Amino acid sequence: MTSNRRTFAIISHPDAGKTTLTEKLLLQGGAIHLAGEVKARGQARRARSDWMKIEQQRGISVTSSVMTFEKEFETDSGRETITFNLLDTPGHEDFSEDTYRTLTAVDSAIMVIDAAKGIEPQTRKLFEVCRLRSVPIITFVNKVDREGRECFELLDEVADMLALDVSPQSWPVGMGGRFEGILDFASGAISRPEGPSKEYLGTRDENAAIPDEFAEEIELAQAGYPEFDLEAYRNGDLTPVYFGSALKNFGVSELIDAIARFAPPPRPQPAGDEQIPPTRDEVTGFIFKVQANMDPNHRDRIAFMRMVSGTFKRGMKLTPSGLGKPIAVHSPILFFAQDRELADTAEAGDIIGIPNHGTLRVGDTLSEKNQLRFTGLPNFAPEILRRVVLRDPTKTKQLRKALDDLSEEGVIQVFYPEIGAQWIVGVVGQLQLEVLISRLEAEYKVEAVLEASPFATARWLKGADAALKGFADFNRANLARDRDGDLVFMAKSPWDVSYQVEKNPELTFSATKER
Ligand code: G4P
Repeated sequence: MTSNRRTFAIISHPDAGKTTLTEKLLLQGGAIHLAGEVKARGQARRARSDWMKIEQQRGISVTSSVMTFEKEFETDSGRETITFNLLDTPGHEDFSEDTYRTLTAVDSAIMVIDAAKGIEPQTRKLFEVCRLRSVPIITFVNKVDREGRECFELLDEVADMLALDVSPQSWPVGMGGRFEGILDFASGAISRPEGPSKEYLGTRDENAAIPDEFAEEIELAQAGYPEFDLEAYRNGDLTPVYFGSALKNFGVSELIDAIARFAPPPRPQPAGDEQIPPTRDEVTGFIFKVQANMDPNHRDRIAFMRMVSGTFKRGMKLTPSGLGKPIAVHSPILFFAQDRELADTAEAGDIIGIPNHGTLRVGDTLSEKNQLRFTGLPNFAPEILRRVVLRDPTKTKQLRKALDDLSEEGVIQVFYPEIGAQWIVGVVGQLQLEVLISRLEAEYKVEAVLEASPFATARWLKGADAALKGFADFNRANLARDRDGDLVFMAKSPWDVSYQVEKNPELTFSATKER
């Protein structure tokens, strides 16, 4: 049975309230007992690793993690426990690659919007990634305890900018200084602010009278939008919208209910032409993230696997597609938010952390029978390429090891030119380069600088052996191998790419690479 899993992410622009909402979701799920713990725990973890200082300084979140919590619900068929797996996505635009991969591992997303700001650039980018994969979205308009923009205007913006139908499920009764609570359309109840902090502490007025000054607006709101339609939502065509305040606890339990009731259970995942359903008996999954050196005293790394099907049991033997021979998974990690727990069993939709020494890579499929490969976890053509120059040339070996490790983690991509010894790193965003330099120093004791490279972008090459050889004979100075040993064309400009594409119709020049 897999229907009680809800694996989702929160997408938002920095400062919209993702951390606060996460904390409140975990609190309501009974996973943590004191507000502030998410940040506090986060900081304790971050303090362990030097490179993470960057994220502290800039106040952004670079790494993604997994938080699992459970909640009981009354349903038609009695009490049911729903397991929520919340995957945190890095919020900074520079980390689109890592974020993209995390979003391949969720079945739905919550989009948090600041009521005073509406759709911001990062929200929009993340939304586009969700749309690419038809990930359904629930919208949470946050901070209505403060003065915000008009609700109608906000809804229009969501509808127009994202080309989505919007279906409000609740409405704020006033905002800012005149905030009197949130009206839940379905039940007609208003949840009220209480006490000096004006928080929601559980007081709901059933069938409450709406103050005259808001009556007309609310009537319009109830009549003016499409009804919620489960199928349209799950297809990614409609978003139910909840208004609330993460800080003051408004709208949070409604949001959890909505995820439990509407958000899709684990979806089938593509493996070439096939779709692998969660009901398949065989245990299968894919690695969407690898995190190395979480603790400088341990060289181990954790690979995050999204379970696609089957029931995993501790000690089980699974074969990683990159390795070809089975490994026994003795000490997998589950991510219950209080603590990391050793996983005894895990179902489709769950995430398990697998400690390993570098055998598992982003994009790997793990399965019992080793007969399928999940697809759709690409590497992207880097937009910034730099030469890595060592300050101490005797450290070549350490540098190679570090570059291999970090490319395996997806922090950078590395290209080893066919001619010469000038290694090249590629990234999608500038911040990744800073992370690279500081991790090289902190974790590998390697001092390096980055210099301009003659190349502007890269394309993965495919074709028949003879065609590849012919191309290589003429273009050796522009060829490199990536960490997997695959051949890459290093282009000096976009024009260079178009020219070669036209000249070599028998080859494909790919801007993404799927493992
Ligand atoms: P992020 O993870 O999306 O970047 O946002 P985060 O939750 O850190 O929230 C950003 C700021 O917005 C925080 O204030 C937070 O307290 C505030 N905030 C979040 N939700 C609400 C809300 O519903 N209403 C109001 N009024 N404010 C909200 P800060 O002062 O920047 O941080 P802090 O010092 O309070 O932690």
